[in-house]
Amino acid sequence: MDALVALCKRRGFLFQSSEIYGGLNGFWDYGPLGVELKRNIREAWWYDNVTSHNELVVPPGAPSAFQMVGIDSTIIMHPQVWKCSGHYDLFHDYMVDCRETKKRYRYDQVQGRWVEYNGQRIFVATEAVGEEAVADVEHKALRFFNLRTKEADRLVWHSPLVSLTTVEDFSQVLAPDAKTLGTLTPPREFNLMFKTYVGALSGEENVAFLRPETAQGIFVNFKNVLDSTRVKIPFGIAQMGKSFRNEITPRYFTFRSREFEQMEIEFFCRPETSRAWYEYWRQRRFNWYISLGLASERLRLRDHSPDELSHYSCGTADVEYAFPFLAPGDFGELEGIAHRGDFDLRSHMEGKLIRKGNELVLELGPDGQPKYRGSGKDLTYFDEETRERFIPHVIEPSAGADRAALAFLCEAYAEDMVPDEKGVPTKRVVLRLHPRLAPIKVAVFPLVKKDGMPEIAQRIYADLKPHFNCFYDEKGAVGRRYRRQDEIGTPYCITVDSQTLQDDTVTVRDRDTLRQWRIKVDDCVEVIRGLIRGTYTVPG
Ligand code: GAP
Repeated sequence: MDALVALCKRRGFLFQSSEIYGGLNGFWDYGPLGVELKRNIREAWWYDNVTSHNELVVPPGAPSAFQMVGIDSTIIMHPQVWKCSGHYDLFHDYMVDCRETKKRYRYDQVQGRWVEYNGQRIFVATEAVGEEAVADVEHKALRFFNLRTKEADRLVWHSPLVSLTTVEDFSQVLAPDAKTLGTLTPPREFNLMFKTYVGALSGEENVAFLRPETAQGIFVNFKNVLDSTRVKIPFGIAQMGKSFRNEITPRYFTFRSREFEQMEIEFFCRPETSRAWYEYWRQRRFNWYISLGLASERLRLRDHSPDELSHYSCGTADVEYAFPFLAPGDFGELEGIAHRGDFDLRSHMEGKLIRKGNELVLELGPDGQPKYRGSGKDLTYFDEETRERFIPHVIEPSAGADRAALAFLCEAYAEDMVPDEKGVPTKRVVLRLHPRLAPIKVAVFPLVKKDGMPEIAQRIYADLKPHFNCFYDEKGAVGRRYRRQDEIGTPYCITVDSQTLQDDTVTVRDRDTLRQWRIKVDDCVEVIRGLIRGTYTVPG
């Protein structure tokens, strides 16, 4: 992971936000290559789900044909949206503060071990994970009891690593960065929505929130989309864009950021077909990551157990990836696919709902009136064919563009040995990114900077440029130029050499197989297009 983080900075994929001022925790900037990678992910998602979707045919595994449209709603919406959706009351994490160090931790992310020395039993806490956590806890316990490393066997361990949430009394807890015991406050709720003020006045009545998800922008536009287009159920509305969460402990590079991008679909269907649609989307979204190169055993699709489900959800599955920064065996969420029933449309019609037994009912305030009133607008759907009116059920595939980018980078990063120009095996760093995602699709080199080779290479570059993001390089040994492209994931390199001057052919080099073959100069655009689409077969 350290090597990948260093590569991301060195080659301009990711920078810490406001780095020259010391950075801002939980915020990341994408550099010249990173922005291309993330755009390619977003474009692949939009193209595969919206633009290229053919509503006239039944896709494999789908219960029927369906329509897909997109929207782009605002980041700041009416505050009532968040009251009715439940985010205002419920979108929080628990935090604990350390009175000694003034540091803040997410309650469920602190773990530790019970340890005893000389009759004193304490809980030593850490924010680290996996083997690092075990080592960190031992180091802290030794320091607390004033012992040297070689005296470690005098510590008596009473538990494996367990969550702080299992500890009832904090008086014997040594906080992750503290020197004394009992410095942690009891856990408190912390709402993750960023607050802001709309207009010149900063009173409570002007409070608004930066959206913590793009989904609500879709629900509140459900009727607009129905009324302005000819979509019929089943159909999906897609949206991608920035979301903001004031995460207590942003960490793991971009994995948990405070500003990030989501790619969400709300798919509206008849209640009785919703289970089949849920199964369809669950599998389809999993397959999407595989099709773009997350094909290893590090990717999995995991169904939530009933106690993990939100109060409104009838089923949720997560697409997860075993990021290298997680403890062995741990997976991090890339996307959640949730069956949300009619919760969202009902909430925006009636007001905030709560679960009572098996029912979702309107939550009432102390005065017996709805705690948060809905819009009162009719968000039901009238089916012209069956002459029925109903509230559609919703399936929500909700993905994160930044987490996807991070997973694709982690999966792509490799170090291998390849022969240099003299045939001597040398170490190379390579990003085996899928050609659709690679920031640069093709690099063009003249073998040497003479004999008219640069002129031909520049002509090829000019031909390719309107079609693909490409790169021209004439400096240094060609082997070194290949390595620089391998390191940033460029799948193909075209080289003009002395044979080009005779027969108008160039070599194409494949990043992964290292195969080189010759093609006609005039065929460069079509060959590269075919290679990216997977429709071109390498000869021989
Ligand atoms: N509308 C449902 C929803 O927002 P979520 O599981 O909270 O569900 C969906 O978020 C996706 O957004 C996650 O699977 C993840 O990819 C991304 N995401 C959520 N919080 C994030 C964060 N703090 N940093 C980066 N990505 C995040």
